[in-house]
Amino acid sequence: MKALIPAAGLGTRFLPATKAQPKEMLLVVDRPAIQYVVEEGLASAADEVVIINSREKKAIEDHFAPNPELVALLRERGKDAYADAVETVGNYPVSYVYQEEALGLGHAVRCAAEKTGAEPFYVLLGDVLVPGNGMLPAMQAVSDAHGGASVIAVMPVPDDEVSRFGVIAGAEVEPGVWKVSELVEKPAREDAPSNLAVFGRYLLSPRVMELLANVAPGVGGEIQLTDALDAVLAEEEMYALVVDPADGFDTGTVESWLETNNVLFQRKRG
Ligand code: G1P
Repeated sequence: MKALIPAAGLGTRFLPATKAQPKEMLLVVDRPAIQYVVEEGLASAADEVVIINSREKKAIEDHFAPNPELVALLRERGKDAYADAVETVGNYPVSYVYQEEALGLGHAVRCAAEKTGAEPFYVLLGDVLVPGNGMLPAMQAVSDAHGGASVIAVMPVPDDEVSRFGVIAGAEVEPGVWKVSELVEKPAREDAPSNLAVFGRYLLSPRVMELLANVAPGVGGEIQLTDALDAVLAEEEMYALVVDPADGFDTGTVESWLETNNVLFQRKRG
């Protein structure tokens, strides 16, 4: 089973900081944001992380590549803790596929179709950090309890923010678990079927990957993952797990990235 991390975006909201450095490489406390996401994927049932990259973002690949010269130099100088950290990150089972054109999140995910094959797969969006690594196992448990259904993470958001997200309609079947009946990408406030917003973590059936091949451009002219999820509802069940705001952090804007750094730094300092 694979964990897919789309990372081909331009990082527009962080310009000029992201002119020469990928947004995914921005520091969060003590490591680049994408390292948290890769570590979360590897702590789940996934055997490999697949980063869906753009050809311009070599820094991401350099970060996860082995660097034996640097490790040897650090060891010579007695800096074993740093050597271990460099060695560990260079040995993570990470591979890459490329999204040649920025045609949307659904298109990015579809670029990894050959990697996922006929298996279910996770999608982890880099804008969201789950440092406790507990969300994917919790989603997997919900899926197992419902015959292998797809499961997505959702978080309640204020009414005036629903138009920034994918939003679900559904019914709560047990505390914190909803059976999804509809999904809408970035609805106008008055059209939003609820205030439960899709929160960057997905456990998806292979049928979603098949349907993505035929999804037409939607909101913003982009091929939307949300539209494939809505389409699969005609054939399969899907559940949504409500995330505790203490477990998941948004880093999608400069403001939320700074706030996340603050909270995680305070936690680390204890
Ligand atoms: C994407 C998804 C959206 C989801 C959001 C946050 O939107 O399309 O459904 O709610 O991530 O996880 P984006 O932030 O890329 O516009």
